[in-house]
Amino acid sequence: MANKIGRNDPCWCGSNRKYKTCHMAFDDKIWSMALQGHEVPSHDLLKNAEQIEKIKESCKINIAVLDYLDANIKEGMNTAEIDKIVYDMTTDMGGIPAPLNYEGYPYSVCTSVNDQVCHGFPSKDVILKSGDIVNVDCSTILNGYFSDSSRMFCIGEVSEEKRKLVQVTKECVEKGLEEVKPWGFLGDMGQAVHDHAFANGYTVVREIGGHGVGLEFHEEPWVGYNSKRGEEMLLVPGMIFTIEPMVNMGKVEIFTDPKNNWEVYTKDGKPSAQWEIMVLVTEEGHEVLCW
Ligand code: MF3
Ligand code: CO
Repeated sequence: MANKIGRNDPCWCGSNRKYKTCHMAFDDKIWSMALQGHEVPSHDLLKNAEQIEKIKESCKINIAVLDYLDANIKEGMNTAEIDKIVYDMTTDMGGIPAPLNYEGYPYSVCTSVNDQVCHGFPSKDVILKSGDIVNVDCSTILNGYFSDSSRMFCIGEVSEEKRKLVQVTKECVEKGLEEVKPWGFLGDMGQAVHDHAFANGYTVVREIGGHGVGLEFHEEPWVGYNSKRGEEMLLVPGMIFTIEPMVNMGKVEIFTDPKNNWEVYTKDGKPSAQWEIMVLVTEEGHEVLCW
């Protein structure tokens, strides 16, 4: 692979520097990890400075939309109104909602209420009521660059039990984030997420995870939370991926609505929460790009 590049050839990263003074030592380090049996990222998963800047511009739209919803979401609103807000704000800012027509997904955003785990369809018939918890999952394409993040919102008077689920799920993401550093492993993050959920008596959805993101909506690696410390893909600077655990108050099992093959629910009907951030692995540790 990389070792085919000559020492004096231009580096693959586009820096216009010679390979030997740019990414050669870096590649050797990755290669030695691969030889030890670790899964390692390919070069196309590593974003350069210019790509990171473009991705950050896309993230700005996603953050602005979620900030707006944070201030304006309320009891009595239907989720189709949220879909319209997301579409209008995203396009006004020059972006495209990434979910729209993605593998046939028919809306601009996912709005998942209570026992909906993810991919909830916005609808004028889903009216937010006091006591609901709702995840709004926004993703944007700007000039071909992707951003993806989601937040939970508590509507009106939410029970202590559900508030705790929302809070602990957020903490799971924070605990996972602490583990994101170069030359660590994706499994360090996954185990931290899982351990915190488990310690609080919750379960973490197994079938659906996070993903690399930036140049495409969903890139490698797949990001699960049933992984173990020291396992899964090696983390190196330039990787960007999401951390987006779905945490169930009750049992881990889920099902997909056969009517539309999108909307996912908990099998036991108990609530589920999710927060999603987009993180860049840096030389020093990590940077959160989107939340
Ligand atoms: N935002 C979701 C994710 O985190 C994407 C769901 S696919 C969609 O990966 F089509 F529903 F958008
Ligand atoms: Co995502």
